[in-house]
Amino acid sequence: MSNKKLYVIVAFLIIAATILSACGPAVAPASKSVEVFSWWVGPGEADGLAAMVKVFNQQYPSISFDNAAVAGGAGTNAKAVLATRLAANDPPDSWQAHAGQETIANYVAANQVLPLDDLFASTGLNSVLPATLLPLISKDGHPYSVPVNIHRSNVMWYNSKVLTEAGVTADPKTDFATLDAFFAACDLVKAAGKICLSLGAPWTAIHLFENIMIGSMGADKWNGLWTSPPTTDWNGADVTTGIANFAKVLSYTNPDASTLSDWQTASKMVSDGDAAFNIMGDWAYGYFANAAPNGLALTPHTDFDWAVSPGTYGIFNFLSDSFVLPVGAKHPDAATDWLTVAASKAGQEAFNPLKGSICARTDCNQSLFSEYSQDAAKDWTANVVVGSLMHGVVAAPAWATSIGTAVGLFQADTTKTAEFQAALVAACATDGPCK
Ligand code: GAL
Repeated sequence: MSNKKLYVIVAFLIIAATILSACGPAVAPASKSVEVFSWWVGPGEADGLAAMVKVFNQQYPSISFDNAAVAGGAGTNAKAVLATRLAANDPPDSWQAHAGQETIANYVAANQVLPLDDLFASTGLNSVLPATLLPLISKDGHPYSVPVNIHRSNVMWYNSKVLTEAGVTADPKTDFATLDAFFAACDLVKAAGKICLSLGAPWTAIHLFENIMIGSMGADKWNGLWTSPPTTDWNGADVTTGIANFAKVLSYTNPDASTLSDWQTASKMVSDGDAAFNIMGDWAYGYFANAAPNGLALTPHTDFDWAVSPGTYGIFNFLSDSFVLPVGAKHPDAATDWLTVAASKAGQEAFNPLKGSICARTDCNQSLFSEYSQDAAKDWTANVVVGSLMHGVVAAPAWATSIGTAVGLFQADTTKTAEFQAALVAACATDGPCK
């Protein structure tokens, strides 16, 4: 190559480099993936996510969906992994967060997630979300997460055959207005040699605790535990009675509960005929009814049935799964596409019938849903709605964690009622609004 030619090439390269650098720093080629973090891995739970991902893949075929789900513990395991990643400045592109204090007092307060006003405007989500839900995902008028569903916590699944064999004539759908009526049925089941109420991994005891407290004290007093300051005294008689009832309920549970791996094992004890009842959120519906291999493919009313948990007729104890847009997402555009699907009617109509939940949106086609879910949708609008402790609605994570620790200690020794109540009082003082 002649010197002249070489000179021309070098000059060209210098000019090109100058033009490029004037356009800004070098940008990595757009990556076509979105990493979505949840805890929907287990039987019954993965189906719903897979159905929503299918809608996403249809609408955004060029973006690959990276499923970063972490199994177990109603999110306890996932949230621990997430906290480590957030501390290392390595957020997934979107993650599952419960509407309520879990989102607002945690991720929003720590400035880890971005407001979604634009997405709410472009998807029209504001006008199709229930009034109950908007304040739970908003701060200073800005929405911070996209709710995909409404789950019910206070459902009691049961096996009619076990009840009949034990001589229980009470109908769980109508005759358990009080916990005492439920205890009478449990005495019969216990005498027949079966477990009355199956219980799973440690977090399910907190799930049980909230529903027994509500069944014991009613909606207003439950709500009063979570106001700032609480209008229901943590040191008062309502909590004392609730604890006594919880101790009695625990006496009817399987002694190996805390060694079980998650909730599914306990729910399956009911459909297997080893236990009469299981109090678990309506994700259990998906597990019972969905097709194998993820679901048990059981027939409603025959293989399993459901009622509202004892003492909570007319009350809907709710939680809502939602997804956020992190500060510092690696693929913010793809994350926004994911959130757009999560917000959409198509996404929610694919997800919820398999998840056992109802849509967060109010305009889903009810004929896509099971009889169970259609009833839940009616109750959601007709009942008194209260918020779940275990699933992020009413208490900030630190407070919920210290209550959970107290529940665990009490489960190990249910004679320690005074100590348990003192621990609840202390939890509110240390991590809640009782300062
Ligand atoms: C809840 C979650 C539900 C379900 C459940 C059991 O916290 O909101 O969607 O996954 O845990 O894992």
